[in-house]
Amino acid sequence: MENFNFYSPTEFVFGKGRAAETGSFVKKYGGTKVLIHYGGGSAVKSGLIGAVKKSLDEAGIAYCELGGVQPNPRDTLVYKGIDLCRSEGVDFILAVGGGSVIDSSKAIAAGVCYDGDFWDFFTGIAEVKNALPLAVVLTIAAAGSEGSRSCVITKEDGMLKRGIGYEILRSKFSIMDPALTQTLPAYQTACGCTDIMAHVFERYFTNTKEVEITDRLCEAVLLTMVKEAPRVIADPDNYDARANIMWAGMVAHNNIVGVGRQQDWNSHGLEHELSGLYDVAHGAGLAVIMPSWMQYVYKHNVLRFCQMATRVFGCQMNFENPEATAVEGIQRFRSFLHGIGMPINFAELGAKEEDIPALVEKLGIGDGKLGGFMELDKNDVTEIYRIAAHASL
Ligand code: NZQ
Ligand code: ZN
Repeated sequence: MENFNFYSPTEFVFGKGRAAETGSFVKKYGGTKVLIHYGGGSAVKSGLIGAVKKSLDEAGIAYCELGGVQPNPRDTLVYKGIDLCRSEGVDFILAVGGGSVIDSSKAIAAGVCYDGDFWDFFTGIAEVKNALPLAVVLTIAAAGSEGSRSCVITKEDGMLKRGIGYEILRSKFSIMDPALTQTLPAYQTACGCTDIMAHVFERYFTNTKEVEITDRLCEAVLLTMVKEAPRVIADPDNYDARANIMWAGMVAHNNIVGVGRQQDWNSHGLEHELSGLYDVAHGAGLAVIMPSWMQYVYKHNVLRFCQMATRVFGCQMNFENPEATAVEGIQRFRSFLHGIGMPINFAELGAKEEDIPALVEKLGIGDGKLGGFMELDKNDVTEIYRIAAHASL
């Protein structure tokens, strides 16, 4: 196991009806003028925005609001948010929504405290040194941004999707009411489940030896998802399944399952180019990319894939032919994703094989390599996209 620091300072406020406590938590964390930031309308329609405002009113906290965050959140709205915060004297940002709303809020929080163009953070020109405090009322279990240090924004000009990560961007408190996710369309629920599993797999496939504790934690989250995802698709009002999935989403991505080990974020990197180019849901893109990445890299450490196959997907170990077990595990993962309604190849996702050179180009690898479980050059990623284009059950 490698040396590590683990710092996860967010206060998680979990359970039914907890959004009514928003105002008192904003007060606790020092907010006096709040920007309520939300998405395309689901949180207004469900009555959640109304409930949050009522709670802020009761706590005597002033607010302004900015809705309209799109999935794959855009830089254009971030600029608007920064201007609004400055003109209104906002000192606290409240994200009411999913990963897109939270990430847009994080970018605004950092941008307000920076004199230059906030996109500088995403091109490496500047580092985030300061940010307004922010908090979350979560409406979808997926990205894990409610507990993570990451922020992913798409620059509309060129549809460039890029991410950053800073401790200062972690949420002060995150209200997590599983019942709020019951209004999600099945497809979005499944996208979220896929993303949660991907966050674990990006950590599970490692070259670091002797990481039993995090291996087992990863497997616990994966097994939970294998059980709960189909349950919630079959029965969308199942509160307990939703509760387990919501907590799994946080555990999968605040890095408690990833400390002390090398990680691999190449499936996410490859997927971000897909959701950047086609504006598809991140989880759906991962369903197409991740098993394809596995198919391409499994020979790098066949036994690690056998471990996944036997411990997570219940395959029988074939001691004479371990590769067969590894391949069976990958196929079971793909079938599982298909079973909860996810696409598994380019055609089902709405991506085009002829765009592969453009996707590879946008990754910006040049003559270098992407690091991780297995290093990947341009030819490798081209091959992974090709596998993804033609994948079948
Ligand atoms: O905009 P509204 O109307 O709210 O609709 C949203 C949106 O269309 C809808 N939705 C959310 N909660 C709902 C609901 N509909 C009905 N009832 C509810 N309770 O769901 C759709 C998707 O929302 P979005 O926020 O985009 O989903 P998600 O949480 O999956 O976030 C995806 C974004 O997060 C990034 C992704 O790349 C993508 O941009 N990620 C962020 C990470 C992070 N910051 O740590 C890590 C992830 O790997 C990921 O990259
Ligand atoms: Zn993700």
